Amino acid sequence: MNVLVVGAGGREHALAWKASQSTRVETVFVAPGNPGTAAESGCQNVDITVDDFTALANFAVSKDVGLTIVGPEGPLVAGIRDFFDARGLRCFAPSQQAAQLEGSKAFSKEFLSRHDIPTGRYETFSSLADAEGYIRAEGAPIVIKADGLAAGKGVVVAATVDEAVDAARTMLSGERFGDAGKEIVVEEFLAGEEASFIVVSDGEVALPFASSQDHKARDVGDTGPNTGGMGAYSPAPVVSDDIHRQIMETIIDPTIQGMDADGIRYQGFLYAGLMIDNEGVAKVIEFNCRFGDPEAQPVMMRLESDLVELCQRALDTELSTVELSFSEEVALGVVLASGGYPDDYKTGHEIRGLVQHVDGTKLFHAGTRMDEGRVLTAGGRVLCVVGMGGSVREAQARAYRRVEGIEWKDMYYRRDIGYRAVRRETVHP
Ligand code: AMP
Ligand code: GLY
Repeated sequence: MNVLVVGAGGREHALAWKASQSTRVETVFVAPGNPGTAAESGCQNVDITVDDFTALANFAVSKDVGLTIVGPEGPLVAGIRDFFDARGLRCFAPSQQAAQLEGSKAFSKEFLSRHDIPTGRYETFSSLADAEGYIRAEGAPIVIKADGLAAGKGVVVAATVDEAVDAARTMLSGERFGDAGKEIVVEEFLAGEEASFIVVSDGEVALPFASSQDHKARDVGDTGPNTGGMGAYSPAPVVSDDIHRQIMETIIDPTIQGMDADGIRYQGFLYAGLMIDNEGVAKVIEFNCRFGDPEAQPVMMRLESDLVELCQRALDTELSTVELSFSEEVALGVVLASGGYPDDYKTGHEIRGLVQHVDGTKLFHAGTRMDEGRVLTAGGRVLCVVGMGGSVREAQARAYRRVEGIEWKDMYYRRDIGYRAVRRETVHP
């Protein structure tokens, strides 16, 4: 069977690499892919963009693709699943309706409160005067979110009321986020430690992937501007067995069942961004209707089960008969970014040191492109280097050893990925 992976980032490199290991698969096509997927044995890039559904479906028909896996939120929210269904093609992805859990923060907050799923208190506004009144009444810290997709930049955690009102004004003015900001959610600030909880759902049953945690802030110590993710590791020690059970019982299962009760079948990957407070209570910060990036890179490194079979079983609503297995090892991924990201940055720099061997590591491409045999930077997040090890420390040391051999002009990365997990390991070895 042939498989098609839609997307071009680090997550898609990880998904395509894992899919290519399936014994059932001949070729994994990646549309449009990147130089990393191009070099992966068993994978082949196809020059079609993620939003050209007609070309993607035509390609799937012409190459006898038996399964399409979709990475990024854009095509999911735009309804790629519905489009493929209408053509009779097997596509593992949530429908357009289901993808509203990520596509509209107002939708997901309303869904959460209606189904009594733990999340921060909130109100939705389209008028600045009303938003300002609410912000002043609630006080700071407080969180302002653009309703629609804003590439991870539509959230402001405001330390003061003035900062919150400014953020609300900017979003509602439409200047920065266009239509995505014409409605905003103003949300209670939640304190605690964040974790990413990613599951695969067949619409009835959800199976959890190994837990993971990412570092969204750009700079050391989780400071600086919010990004798509500067690194991630799996497992996330903050998710103890008890908390794991609690998350499945109070968040994941009620979400899949709540969607079903609302007449929406949630079939696909579901990512719950969680805040776990000091008492060990988990609340939903956000939903994504896809795998996390960069969480996919470490989690796929640990996944021992066949990804393609998993997606097939989920499409056939057979997950109740499936068990997932993960390596006991820790996987830790460090994102190498363009200097300046997430604000303005330059691209087109030649990357050196891509070909090197460091035991227990794997390199995933994200924002790269080929130019006459050279690999150049082509995005904000450029590479993700994953290290595996018997402990967080070991995984971290390996990842950074490989990072040290890579360079380009203005390369930037955090040197402390996994620090919380290392600290826990030191306290409770
Ligand atoms: P989101 O795009 O919703 O994941 O938000 C981006 C980041 O903002 C999250 O990863 C959190 O670090 C932070 N954040 C979002 N909502 C809240 C909240 N209610 N309380 C505290 N931090 C938040
Ligand atoms: N790493 C955060 C995300 O994928 O949204």
